[in-house]
Amino acid sequence: MDIWHIRGGRRLEGVSFVQGSKNASLPILAASILAPLQCELHNVPQLRDVDAALRILRHLGCRAEQRGNEVYIDSTGLSGCSIPHHLMEEMRSSVIFMGALIARCGEARLSLPGGCQLGKRPIDLHVFALRQLGAEIEENGMEIQCFPSRLHGAEIFLPFPSVGATENTMLSACMAKGETVIHGAAREPEILALQDFLQTIGVHISGAGSDTIQIERGPMKKNVVSRIIPDRIVASTIACAAAATGGDVELRGIDPKQFSTVLHFLNKAGCDIMNNNRSVRVRSDGRLRAIGEVVTEPYPGFPTDAQPVLMAALLKAEGRSLIRETIFENRFRQVPELRRLGADISSSGQLAEIWGVDRLHGAAMTATDLRGGAAMIVAGLSADGETVICDDGHITRGYEHFDMRLRSLGADIYLEY
Ligand code: EPZ
Repeated sequence: MDIWHIRGGRRLEGVSFVQGSKNASLPILAASILAPLQCELHNVPQLRDVDAALRILRHLGCRAEQRGNEVYIDSTGLSGCSIPHHLMEEMRSSVIFMGALIARCGEARLSLPGGCQLGKRPIDLHVFALRQLGAEIEENGMEIQCFPSRLHGAEIFLPFPSVGATENTMLSACMAKGETVIHGAAREPEILALQDFLQTIGVHISGAGSDTIQIERGPMKKNVVSRIIPDRIVASTIACAAAATGGDVELRGIDPKQFSTVLHFLNKAGCDIMNNNRSVRVRSDGRLRAIGEVVTEPYPGFPTDAQPVLMAALLKAEGRSLIRETIFENRFRQVPELRRLGADISSSGQLAEIWGVDRLHGAAMTATDLRGGAAMIVAGLSADGETVICDDGHITRGYEHFDMRLRSLGADIYLEY
């Protein structure tokens, strides 16, 4: 059990370099098995989810190790195409290995993935798209089996821009015969990052960042070096913490365009936002105001992953703010916990209502999921007195050395393992 101790009420001040992106790293780690490849990845965050992906790679017969923020993979010796339950259950994105395994081996066998409990999270769109590429897939509610099949290019229309389904389709299509076009693709920066990696290893792929992606097999390289993009959700979290504590923080190494919707609402709440191409400064005088309604949407809309941390920043914002969650059905699990700090917040269905209060007081909370846990940290930093967050390892799935990072900005926080 991780226990986070926070003594709140300190302004966050200073410069922070944003860690590498979890959600960009995971599909790229899966992509490293598409062909026999020696791959060196830089700026990979040290996280539980990355660790879980490396364990899957080793289980499949690859060499995979992380030294600091560098990861070395040699997938030439890949010898298996099945992933057991104990490895699959650790995170949702283990499902991305399905597309990569079908591409490399023509078959795959996996149990259903784990991950944060944010709602039902089916994988019907993944299966729908892979079947159109010729994969023969059977699912029995426990396990997914992809029987030996020859993949062929196809024109695929995704009815919803699912990030994971787009990534799985991109990966499978890399080894299919002929061209694949994905219509209705997700447009997140992590999709663009995956495209960049696939181009580096030799795949002919274009269009990522728009809703149409074209993919065709190319001559595959044997050795590549690549760098993971910065994490826009970690950047959003620190920006919200700066706003909530009346702080002044410069986030370096990240393109503010990647989280511009979050910055927009912080600005609306009264923060000064100063940015250039590679950094952004968030300055708040601690007197925030309500922001009306925020609606989560697929990129380029407001990201669902930043919803809990923005909610935490608004707990003391004068007036009434509304948050409408449209991506996941169960992403307000932090609400009852935040109420323990004295927050005036309620939720019903997909809508949460926040009335800003003058003060929050420290309390004990239990982290419910990764971003909900991060929201509790943001709220604890702006509450008077001591906050303790008991966390079954959710937060370290996505935030690297987060206690140290916040301490370097002046927070009084430490993590007891
Ligand atoms: C990715 O999850 C991210 N995970 C999530 O980040 C993020 O919240 C989410 O995209 C949305 O931005 C990774 O990148 C590893 P989706 P993913 O498929 O791919 C429904 C975090 O905190 N859906 O776009 O699972 C689904 O149930 C995490 O870092 C189907 O109905 O997201 C959800 O309601 C959590 N059928 C919605 O679409 C499917 O086959 C969005 O899911 C697939 C998805």
